[in-house]
Amino acid sequence: MKEKLEQIKAEALRQIEASDALEKLNEVRVNFLGKKGELTSVLKGLKDIAPEERPKVGQLVNDVRAQIESVLEEAVSQMEKAAREAQMKAEVIDVTLPAKKNKIGHRHPNTIAMEEVERIFVGMGYEVVEGPEIETDYYNFEALNIPADHPAKDEQDTFYINGDILLRTQTSGTQVHEMEKGRLPIRMLAPGRVFRSDEVDATHSPSFHQIEGLVIDKHITFADLKGTLAEFAKELFGEDTKVKFRPHHFNFTEPSAEMDVSCFKCGGEGCRFCKGSGWIEILGCGMVHPNVLRMSKIDPEKYSGFAFGIGLERIALLKYEIDDMRLLYENDIRFLKQF
Ligand code: DAH
Repeated sequence: MKEKLEQIKAEALRQIEASDALEKLNEVRVNFLGKKGELTSVLKGLKDIAPEERPKVGQLVNDVRAQIESVLEEAVSQMEKAAREAQMKAEVIDVTLPAKKNKIGHRHPNTIAMEEVERIFVGMGYEVVEGPEIETDYYNFEALNIPADHPAKDEQDTFYINGDILLRTQTSGTQVHEMEKGRLPIRMLAPGRVFRSDEVDATHSPSFHQIEGLVIDKHITFADLKGTLAEFAKELFGEDTKVKFRPHHFNFTEPSAEMDVSCFKCGGEGCRFCKGSGWIEILGCGMVHPNVLRMSKIDPEKYSGFAFGIGLERIALLKYEIDDMRLLYENDIRFLKQF
């Protein structure tokens, strides 16, 4: 019996020694120490042994069991330790490796210019509002004193959805939406996308952006318009910027003007940038026409106002010295990230 036990023990230790995985050690445990294992069957055989021998043999079985168990446990913990170490080695992070750069986008020059214009007017107490890109003829033309069949409509041909619904040609319709709300006074800035049936070239696009401004209050005069826009030009192009107003015609303002700024490249001397004139045109403006006020239920005897419209792309092209508008729409990141 003793010999048999020694044999079992030797075989168990040999198998433990030969195990190269935790599952194998578990098999050894089951085969030798489990319910149907070799040692258990020896214990079951005790009943065939003389009673006085039984305690001794029982003791012997327990000793062998304890020895196998302790060797097995040691082997298991060795193997677990080795596995942990291997895992840690595999997962080690080299903190000296250069990090992968996250490519984040870049604000578009139009957006940068728009936010700059907004910042200046918000600083003067203007509210930024939005109007719809799909408009009716009434808001885009009629309520701006441009009646049906007026020749001014030819200059602003657009994309008609039907006879009455169109893609707006100007942000000026937003003036009407704001005036109709009936909340006075008004100091609003309305940036947005506009559409015209134009061929693409270096200075034209069928879709571009404008920033509309409107002020309505009591006692607003042309002096307010001039002061406001002169201040705006200084903030945008520099303290030394001068402005010049040239008479013009817009149906919805009377009188109307176009405003030029002194060339910020040459300071007014005349250069390639301002085509030798020393001046650069940047916006249209004027005093809101009494017809326009009346159509939006504002009494021109009590209230007056001024309005202006800035071409956003024009500002972006000027400020960042870009000479072809098409570059603004290609969205090439190598171009965009320069600004
Ligand atoms: N809407 C005009 C255009 O697209 C620009 C403009 C001129 C807007 C004068 C105004 C204004 O508000 O007073 O050409």
